[in-house]
Amino acid sequence: HNHIDHATVEKVEAAIAADDTHAHIPEYETFAAYEADGGYAALKDLRANGDWEAVQAKVKEAGLRGLGGAGFPSGTKWGFVRANEGPRYLAVNGDEGEPGTFKDRYYLERTPHVFLEGMLIAAWAVEAEKAFIYMRDEYPAVLEILRREIKALEEAGIVEAGYIDLRRGAGAYICGEESAMIESIEGKRGEPRHRPPFVAQVGVFGRPTLVHNVETLYWVAKICREGPECLNSVEKNGRKGLRSYSVSGRVKNPGVHLLPAGSTITDIIEACGGMLDGHAFKAYQPGGPSSGLLPASMSDIPLDFDTLQPHGTFIGSAAVVVLSDQDSARDAALNMLRFFEDESCGQCTPCRVGCEKAVKLMSEKKWDQGLLEELSTAMVDASICGLGQAAPNPIRLTMKHFPDEV
Ligand code: NAI
Ligand code: SF4
Repeated sequence: HNHIDHATVEKVEAAIAADDTHAHIPEYETFAAYEADGGYAALKDLRANGDWEAVQAKVKEAGLRGLGGAGFPSGTKWGFVRANEGPRYLAVNGDEGEPGTFKDRYYLERTPHVFLEGMLIAAWAVEAEKAFIYMRDEYPAVLEILRREIKALEEAGIVEAGYIDLRRGAGAYICGEESAMIESIEGKRGEPRHRPPFVAQVGVFGRPTLVHNVETLYWVAKICREGPECLNSVEKNGRKGLRSYSVSGRVKNPGVHLLPAGSTITDIIEACGGMLDGHAFKAYQPGGPSSGLLPASMSDIPLDFDTLQPHGTFIGSAAVVVLSDQDSARDAALNMLRFFEDESCGQCTPCRVGCEKAVKLMSEKKWDQGLLEELSTAMVDASICGLGQAAPNPIRLTMKHFPDEV
């Protein structure tokens, strides 16, 4: 990771400057189309005579929570950032690296301006001097769309040139951890920081920073344009709101499915047209590899924030992967740990050594369950960031729900 091949970097930069990224650009809603449909009227209105606290109240009323995966109440976060003296910044986390998650890409490749308007509304609400967008480089079409549309915003006078600073990630999963992302924006190696202080207090270049995921900002614009009802009027299984599930695996129609937040895996498989022919539902990953695997017998749990905690897991960014009787839960869990071993930034020992050790133990024919449990405890207790703290979830859940396989 550390070796920089300057010749290659220069070549890539030159190709990008020449707009020669060879990315296939899908049909999407351009600035002109979005504006003709009433886009940016909400932003202009707020900038002219808006009250940020009224918008915050609307965001709270809608029940909007951080859709990167942690579900932190978005309106509350605005208050935390505003409580610190300026200059303040906004940083958008577009480093959608969670295996199985592709909802941000889905929205950006279709309606980029809903997100961009939401971003500018949030930036206005916290009086951000600058907005950084940290976008993963594995999304070349998204990067090209954003370059074009940011330019259109500048030309239309909606933002000053340079106000939106589009930064490219370089393929490190850990740079999606918010403080590692900030380090990366600052030009440093992406290593998570200790908390506190939270980024709302000490963020980009030491300034209070509002960090939001792409989809969270998409909903900020929706709430301002359509009212909090666009989220809070939907109710299912006692849960309110909508969730963009990124579904993959053994289903007929994988993809992003926008469903009520109280949907169960049964509802989700149904929305995907059912299981693939010849496959019987066996297990599922509810929200990224750090959420591990649950068995098909636990199919009546609403897949929302808070509802999975009693079962030792969480919904995260709603990256649902459906496994069938032709898949091995044990192999899937090992694959998840291999991913964490590769992606650990190596800064702290429990995670760096723990992931490596777990992979070794899980590669044995028979798992040493006592030792894996002890190792899991050490990793959860002593890792600096969420990667190391959540990496043991697939180990524990597989031992609990698929004992025959381990
Ligand atoms: P977290 O719960 O620690 O923090 C969530 C947010 O709330 C952060 O922005 C944090 O700064 C803020 N916050 C929390 N307490 C605060 C306080 N007292 N004052 C001010 N701000 C406060 O969760 P974290 O570690 O940021 O995110 C973990 C989630 O990320 C997991 O659920 C995981 O599923 C998800 N994830 C998503 C990925 C993706 O590609 N979308 C990739 C990897 C993980
Ligand atoms: Fe890095 Fe892992 Fe420690 Fe997080 S837990 S800081 S990824 S070594």
